[in-house]
Amino acid sequence: MQGTAWAGRRVLITAGPTYEDLDPVRYLGNRSSGRMGYAVAAAAAAQGAEVTLVSGPVTLATPPGVRRIDVRSAEAMHAAVLDALPGQHVFIATAAVADFRPRERQASKIKKQAGSGLALDLVQNPDILADVAARQPRPFVVGFAAETDDVERYARDKLVRKKLDMIAANRVGTDDCGFDSDRNALAVLWHDGGAQVDMADKATVARRLLELILARLPDGA
Ligand code: C5P
Repeated sequence: MQGTAWAGRRVLITAGPTYEDLDPVRYLGNRSSGRMGYAVAAAAAAQGAEVTLVSGPVTLATPPGVRRIDVRSAEAMHAAVLDALPGQHVFIATAAVADFRPRERQASKIKKQAGSGLALDLVQNPDILADVAARQPRPFVVGFAAETDDVERYARDKLVRKKLDMIAANRVGTDDCGFDSDRNALAVLWHDGGAQVDMADKATVARRLLELILARLPDGA
């Protein structure tokens, strides 16, 4: 669906998982497919936005008209986002960023020792979303929250704690929704309100989310 509703607006989106390398052959990652973020990027570009997509490792094609920056780790995603941030009107963080990374990446493949396990020494990754929200001036900041239970309560807490303008929460751990699915449903919350986006394919959900964002952008943003 083409349009011009987003013409003149610059949108920065993160998508996909991050991979945190343990050694040259192994990494810590997660099940994010990147499809929700790519759907948002495609929908925003189709509506005339200038879209920059900072993407973790995924197997998806770049949507038409989207500038894509590929990264692997959370630290690389953090650096790419801060680099692309000046001049952006909206930041939408859909990426499933790994919370931890190995303190050190081993230069050679870790060998197993007969009969013994392996303890991993992990350190926290930067919180990209919270860092963007702490900047001044800053774009309109939208976070995602994937929760297994008490979805709205945890999402509202995250909205306040990370100083976001809006949060889109989805239930994960059910078969038909979220991470590895073509479909999604969202509870979208902002400080003085909220809306439900009913279960639909991710392209439809993305368009609905963009309408909710556009309606809340300050004039001229
Ligand atoms: O706190 P939690 O990880 O559940 O927050 C999820 C939101 O924060 C998502 O929008 C995700 O993209 C973003 N996030 C981030 N950097 C991190 C962790 C999460 O941008 N290191």
